Amino acid sequence: MTKSSAPGKIILFGEHAVVYGRPALAVPVTQVHADVNVTNADAAGIWVQAPDIYLHAELNTLPSDHPIAAVIHNLFFLSRVSPFPALNIKITSTIPVASGLGSGAAVTVALTRALSSHINYPMTDEHINAFAYEIEKLHHGTPSGIDNTVITYVKPVYFIKGQAIETFKVGQPFTIVIGDTGISAPTKESVADVRKLWEVDKAKWESMFDKVGGIANEARNAIESGKWKELGALMNQNHALLQEMTVSSPELDKLVSAAHKAGALGAKMSGGGRGGNMIALVESDQAEPFAKSLIEAGAQNTLITQVS
Ligand code: MEV
Repeated sequence: MTKSSAPGKIILFGEHAVVYGRPALAVPVTQVHADVNVTNADAAGIWVQAPDIYLHAELNTLPSDHPIAAVIHNLFFLSRVSPFPALNIKITSTIPVASGLGSGAAVTVALTRALSSHINYPMTDEHINAFAYEIEKLHHGTPSGIDNTVITYVKPVYFIKGQAIETFKVGQPFTIVIGDTGISAPTKESVADVRKLWEVDKAKWESMFDKVGGIANEARNAIESGKWKELGALMNQNHALLQEMTVSSPELDKLVSAAHKAGALGAKMSGGGRGGNMIALVESDQAEPFAKSLIEAGAQNTLITQVS
């Protein structure tokens, strides 16, 4: 049996602007993960079982653009495996779907690792990341690549599309509470909407993206030097710009306001927006009561994560 696991992720700063070449910061969230088990099968065929999405099917009965089928077909093409071996592939995930936590990229990375290792086709992290980015492009239109990157390397990343993948130093660990609106919102749609608006008024949008990029750079300095008050203020500024970009939502704004009332040092939506998750920076000893107040304000779920 070959097993692999990949974590979820949150974008701390710079979502959307990162698609247009501005810097962004993201960290892995290891409390949630996608897990893949590959075993040899008795019956011919590749049997895919993903109980979370009620899927139990032979590979050839899945549409070729199915996200899981796409990984398997592309990997077998790349590794020149022929004929296809008889396999059972079991995929489970605790990462909520379409919520900004990188569920799709995590399944792709875990599946690629487990399968490549099972068929003796060794892949470096760099190779897995590049492969996962190609798969993300099939399903997400014009992704920046930050999700697959942070999930592949399982480290905090400072990311500029096509230019920089750096891991940044965290001066002192800090605590983030993640609040889920419970509304699933595919990133592909908000990214496509932003593109339409950008096409209509590029000057305005480029200037907003510049401001976001500046915030991400300042945030990296604040994280490296442990300036939490400053970091919180930068989260608030980033959220205001995301509202201006039309990617926040009443539910996200409600949780962000509740976070301020409950004493967060800063709060913002995270990921594609329109639903999904928001994040708040809190004193670590306040995280539990803080998470409870987010639930009282309507969050469907919360996660407490330490960034270190
Ligand atoms: C999604 O996690 C982050 C976005 O910036 C899209 C992307 O970077 O591909 C909204």
